[in-house]
Amino acid sequence: MTHSDPIDAGIGHDLRDAQDGDGARTSDSAAVAADWSPASWRARPALHMPTDYPDPKRVEAVERELSAYPPLVFAGEARRLTQRLADVAAGKAFLLQGGDCAESFKEFHPNNIRDSFRLILQMAVALTFAAGKPVVKVGRIAGQFAKPRSAPTETQGDATLPSYRGDNINGMEFDAAARRPDPDRLLRAYAQSASTLNLLRAFSQGGYASLGNVHRWMLSFVDRSPAGERYAALATRISEAMTFMAACGVTPETAPSLDQTEFYTSHEALLLGYEQALTREDSTRPGEFYDTSAHMIWIGDRTRQPDHAHVEFCRGVRNPLGIKCGPSLDPDDLVRLLDLLNPSDAPGRITLIARFGADKVEAGLPKLIRRIQAEGRTVVWSSDPMHGNTETSEAGLKTRRFERILAEAGRFIDVCRAENAHAGGVHLEMTGQDVTECTGGAEQITDADLTSRYRTHCDPRLNNEQALELAFLIAEKLGANRAA
Ligand code: TRP
Ligand code: MN
Repeated sequence: MTHSDPIDAGIGHDLRDAQDGDGARTSDSAAVAADWSPASWRARPALHMPTDYPDPKRVEAVERELSAYPPLVFAGEARRLTQRLADVAAGKAFLLQGGDCAESFKEFHPNNIRDSFRLILQMAVALTFAAGKPVVKVGRIAGQFAKPRSAPTETQGDATLPSYRGDNINGMEFDAAARRPDPDRLLRAYAQSASTLNLLRAFSQGGYASLGNVHRWMLSFVDRSPAGERYAALATRISEAMTFMAACGVTPETAPSLDQTEFYTSHEALLLGYEQALTREDSTRPGEFYDTSAHMIWIGDRTRQPDHAHVEFCRGVRNPLGIKCGPSLDPDDLVRLLDLLNPSDAPGRITLIARFGADKVEAGLPKLIRRIQAEGRTVVWSSDPMHGNTETSEAGLKTRRFERILAEAGRFIDVCRAENAHAGGVHLEMTGQDVTECTGGAEQITDADLTSRYRTHCDPRLNNEQALELAFLIAEKLGANRAA
């Protein structure tokens, strides 16, 4: 193979070839519109992106360098995830998406990656068993760095500095040098994402993720959790099912799928210069572009304006897309977004991630569901029970109450059921670490406990025990629905 050959595995065209070409497109109506290019977002207003890089030339140089780096994911993988999500939309599978609010350079450690991975898999086993459906596992990981902020500046005492925007843009420390945006952070974020993804791939395929292993981890949670007894029954039933399967000859030797799992990555497509630099044309399908920074990307609640940059960028890449839907989203605007982002109504392309707040979801969600149904659109409905339930503790720390998170997820499932839609998934901010950022849960973390292990770089995450407990409670609810 010569240097200029497209890479067989999926993606390899030089971007310039694609942009200079005659724009031959596939016949699929979802193919990229003729007026889109990986850079077309640059002509649109872009909110929540840094505009104060001291050296714009260096930003360009870094983006150019990144655009020659290997893709982090392959187009075929993103297509496979779209198919899996199409199953979710049809009610045949469940989506579990979760991870840090913001990854950081400081917390980058193999043990943290391992613990997040172990947590997602344990939650997935409980959900798979209770729902009786495959669980599509998607991490908020290997690229979840950039954060939209409510204010562009932060004031402490009499000093005012630019807000922290995520480790791929500036530093969290409250000093002028750290808060200055530094484009070289993008290279570090890429490197961290690549090695995180490498470890996740090894874990997924190398035997670590075997059902037997994951079940053993779960039994140890049941043993040590204060709420363990409540979950012992479910864990015992899973043990019995595994023994039964083995007795019938279904073992890792006869069924390799017991030893492996598919694990996908996702993050908010916020920092479009980086996303553009990792966008490649699929060499096997000319005219099809993929953002190879992750399998799935989403558009945040603050950057979903139909005529702005983030929607423009996402419209042209063929990854599965999430759209965060909050109380301010009007059903007409939602339909306009779907017209732009999924004109052919391809199943699995769009996941709507509802983030209303525990006391708003019952009033807000039905009108979106009804409108989607009236328009005959196909979407995955997923619940983000985190972002609508953020509050400030007495000591001034951002926190969330476990009971409210649980309440929103539960009400989401009830609303979907009442509206005849599939409650397709959950989207959680969580960590495999033993932090104290959200209050409540079986360990009854109080406001006063928050300071002991408060480590998040942005929003409060469920800790390992809280996330598992939530998964068990959601599993119980899905199981009850299945029985009904
Ligand atoms: N391959 C199946 C799946 O991913 C079964 C499986 C293997 C599994 N390891 C797992 C399920 C870990 C959940 C968690 O669904
Ligand atoms: Mn967050």
